[in-house]
Amino acid sequence: MGHNSASASIQLVSLLILSGILSLETIKLGFCNDDHNVRCIDIERKALLKLKQGLMDPSGQLSSWVGEDCCKWSGVGCNNITGRVNRLDLGNRDGYEENAFDGEINPSLLVLKDLEYLDLSIINNFGGVQFPSFIGSLEKLKYLNLSGLDFVGVIPPNLGNLSRLLYLDLGNHIPPNIKVDENLETDLQWLATLSSLKYLNLGGVNLTKATSYWLPTVNMLPSLVELHLQSCSLPMLPLTLPSINFTSLSVLDLSGNEFTTTIPPWLFNLTKLEMLDLSYNSLMTGKLPDSLGYLKSLRYLHLLYNSFQGSIPKSIGNLTSLEEFYLRGNQMSGIIPESLWELSSMVSLDISRNTWEGAITEAHFVKLGGLREVSIGNDPPNISLVFNISSDWIPPFKLRYLEIISCQLGPKFPTWLRNQTELTTVVLHNARISGTIPDWFWQLDLQFDILDVADNQLSGRVPNSLRFNHASTIDLTSNRFEGLLPLWSSNISYLYLRDNQFSGPIPHNIGQVMPNLQYLDISTNSLSGSIPLFLGTLSQLQVILISNNLLSGEIPHFWNNMPSLQMIDLSNNNLSGEIPHFWNNMPLLISIDLSNNSLSGTIPRSLCSLTSLQLLGLSSNNFSGEFPSLKNCTNMNILDLGDNKFSGPILASIGESMPNLHILSLRSNSFTGSIPLKLCGLSALHILDFSHNNLSGNIPHCIGNLSYLKSESTDEVNYGYEGRFELVSKGREFVYDYFSILYLVTSIDLSDNKLSGEIPMGLTSLIKLDTLNLSMNHLTGNIPTNIGNLELIETLDLSMNKLSGKQFQTFIDPSIYEGNPGLSGCPLPTGCQYNEGAPQVLSGDGGEDDDSKREKLQFVIGMVIGFCAGFWGVFGTLAMKRSWRYAYFHFLDKVKDAVLYFVLAIGTYLQKRS
Ligand SMILES: *[C@@H]1O[C@H](CO)[C@@H](O)[C@H](O)[C@H]1NC(C)=O
Ligand SMILES: *[C@@H]1O[C@H](CO)[C@@H](O)[C@H](O)[C@H]1NC(C)=O
Ligand SMILES: *[C@@H]1O[C@H](CO)[C@@H](O)[C@H](O)[C@H]1NC(C)=O
Ligand SMILES: *[C@@H]1O[C@H](CO)[C@@H](O)[C@H](O)[C@H]1NC(C)=O
Ligand SMILES: *[C@@H]1O[C@H](CO)[C@@H](O)[C@H](O)[C@H]1NC(C)=O
Ligand SMILES: *[C@@H]1O[C@H](CO)[C@@H](O)[C@H](O)[C@H]1NC(C)=O
Ligand SMILES: *[C@@H]1O[C@H](CO)[C@@H](O)[C@H](O)[C@H]1NC(C)=O
Repeated sequence: MGHNSASASIQLVSLLILSGILSLETIKLGFCNDDHNVRCIDIERKALLKLKQGLMDPSGQLSSWVGEDCCKWSGVGCNNITGRVNRLDLGNRDGYEENAFDGEINPSLLVLKDLEYLDLSIINNFGGVQFPSFIGSLEKLKYLNLSGLDFVGVIPPNLGNLSRLLYLDLGNHIPPNIKVDENLETDLQWLATLSSLKYLNLGGVNLTKATSYWLPTVNMLPSLVELHLQSCSLPMLPLTLPSINFTSLSVLDLSGNEFTTTIPPWLFNLTKLEMLDLSYNSLMTGKLPDSLGYLKSLRYLHLLYNSFQGSIPKSIGNLTSLEEFYLRGNQMSGIIPESLWELSSMVSLDISRNTWEGAITEAHFVKLGGLREVSIGNDPPNISLVFNISSDWIPPFKLRYLEIISCQLGPKFPTWLRNQTELTTVVLHNARISGTIPDWFWQLDLQFDILDVADNQLSGRVPNSLRFNHASTIDLTSNRFEGLLPLWSSNISYLYLRDNQFSGPIPHNIGQVMPNLQYLDISTNSLSGSIPLFLGTLSQLQVILISNNLLSGEIPHFWNNMPSLQMIDLSNNNLSGEIPHFWNNMPLLISIDLSNNSLSGTIPRSLCSLTSLQLLGLSSNNFSGEFPSLKNCTNMNILDLGDNKFSGPILASIGESMPNLHILSLRSNSFTGSIPLKLCGLSALHILDFSHNNLSGNIPHCIGNLSYLKSESTDEVNYGYEGRFELVSKGREFVYDYFSILYLVTSIDLSDNKLSGEIPMGLTSLIKLDTLNLSMNHLTGNIPTNIGNLELIETLDLSMNKLSGKQFQTFIDPSIYEGNPGLSGCPLPTGCQYNEGAPQVLSGDGGEDDDSKREKLQFVIGMVIGFCAGFWGVFGTLAMKRSWRYAYFHFLDKVKDAVLYFVLAIGTYLQKRS
């Protein structure tokens, strides 16, 4: 929420610092412009023209740079006596990219020896350019702003020669929650000589090399008023400092570093601090100290996304000037102290994503008449905080931002919103509200940035008349809203209507009415009819989730207008016909899930052009023919082609071109030929399902090389789907957590094929396997003697083969034979009832029992794959992700119950059963 005011404060302080320089310059400039006798010096004019030549200036901002008197050019100022240029201001005041010049800084600037003020922040060099070392020779500089120039390499230490500098900004101003490669680095030693500095911004500069002495170095700057070291990869915030030099510090921004300690005690001596930002670190250990109360001048305290625990110290009440207090995303808990509610200067309060308890009443807000933004809520979603507010309460504040997450606010829609006519963000997420949203709320005629009432039990219809601001979000997920899909204004970018009772067709004009949609989630409703062609006009769409509806008809051919698409999920509908040949021009596409439809035909070759694809789910359709080469899909994690009519050989190229493949399911198709040896090179594979095909030949001996299944390492984070995409947009986080638990499922299922030969010895080195199913093949020979190495195995099915031998004793734990009525053999109590080498037939009863269990198992594994494929991309928000995770845990428990059986039948001839 509103970080604007914070940046305003920074600008304010900078302005104060600069006012000295600026007023000085104004006088000089005024003189320069009036006095026509003092003209700019020719070599300086030429130097400026060289600079101009190096810049692309499409909007003509340097068009005044013509004629003899360069002192009159815009952005140029001269000394009123010498005529020398002392000021060059090409500052990017409003920060708009469009205003930036592309180009490079010509070293001709070195001629401008009298420069005191240099601001080139409007220049957008193409990146990859070294920091210009001549800057260090402009020794008269007092003001230097090269922010946002994206230099690489090392900051030249000769900047230390600029001993008159008051203001130094080399920061890149990227928000601290966005991680970027830090290409510019420095050891910071040159800084110590800049003892006049009042403002220092090295945001985004890599200070790893200054780990141990960045603080002592900064401590050499007694005049410092503003210090910005956000996102500098600083690993350590020293706990001790013998004495503090920079006691004038008013703004301290250390956000986005890698601190893991607590807030050091010396920081509480900086009693002039007005702004403290330690957000996005891992400051962690323990509670927020009581000494916070010493920072009495604080107006802005930002501690977002750290690991603070415990409650808010009571001394917070001493910070009577506090206007912004952000504590979102910590691990704080307990009751919110009364003293917080005494802070009558508060404008913006964000304490959400912690685990608060107790009650919040109207009395708490009596003194908070200036409150404009408030965010309160819990994460994980324990409803332990209750709003106890009477229905006739008229709040003293007029909010523009209201966010209440996972609290008991309902059951009625809060009537105190009746007078909140200036709201632009309303988030009442998982707030236990039921019934319909009252008409008076819609009649407030609010213009929304965000309207989020997800995870309640709201019902009824939502009017079409709502108004939205640019790039806004509406989230009605998981309620009981009904009726036709509502269409709102063209300003909506994020539309989440998942899991409601919307019915009828997808409106045909959706693409015309909301052309700026980036995220469309209308999955899990009762939508019917076909997918309208007008969806294709949504040229900015990144995510389209329309799974779990009743849609029918063909998939329209419009995808080539959607270059931003990242996820397509059309699974679990009744779509039919062929896949359109739309697989071009989608360089960002990560996942396609078309599973559980009635699609048919062959897979278009153009699919191979999708190099970014990570998930392809085509299971449970009627696709046929050979599968085209996917050689270019080098990022594939999950390939699920199960339950189709694909035929032909398994492409060996899968093994070569998809080094990151985690899950490969070809189950229930008509694939023929042998298992390609190249599959053995899939080092991340942990689920391999080729069951129910017509594969023949041997199980490759190299199968024991599947390195993920082999490794004893418990390193759990190195798999692609363990990564997270985080996208923060309009105060909302979109977290795409790749299957966080699925990597624990390890399975090889080759059952019901025509595989022959022996079980390769190598299989027994796949010690991480928990399921191995080779049943219903023509395997012969002995079971490898050391099959007992598979200590984690929960399901081993070798039945209905032609195996022979007596191998039970190789198992360490006899309990694994339990529950196998059809099993006979040493060392089971049933004894050795067969002769070595003689085929053994499963009894009819046992067979049935095993069959039903096997079905269960197959269902289970199939479910796992179907489950994640179906849910891929659906869990757009943290809350959704969490519910998925719970569901999955629940599911996993069931798996354990259902699958703890063990089938081991030796020497089985299916033929002999008859
Ligand atoms: C030239 O500028 C200085 C300040 O830099 C000022 O004091 C002086 O009055 C100016 N001279 C004239 C003639 O305006
Ligand atoms: C910072 O620089 C160090 C080497 O000095 C490098 O190892 C590290 O990856 C860099 N950090 C970032 C975020 O670029
Ligand atoms: C404080 O700053 C002065 C001037 O830069 C320096 O001489 C002194 O060593 C600094 N003190 C500490 C403790 O760093
Ligand atoms: C902080 O202030 C306290 C009390 O005023 C003083 O004893 C202590 O030395 C100061 N610490 C530093 C690092 O200046
Ligand atoms: C907070 O204020 C109270 C009362 O003015 C005072 O007793 C207490 O010491 C202060 N605490 C801090 C940490 O400043
Ligand atoms: C609040 O709203 C009610 C009903 O909409 C109205 O009667 C009342 O005057 C409003 N009060 C304030 C303080 O705006
Ligand atoms: C695969 O990539 C290569 C090299 O980028 C390209 O030439 C080829 O056309 C691509 N194949 C398909 C089917 O897109």
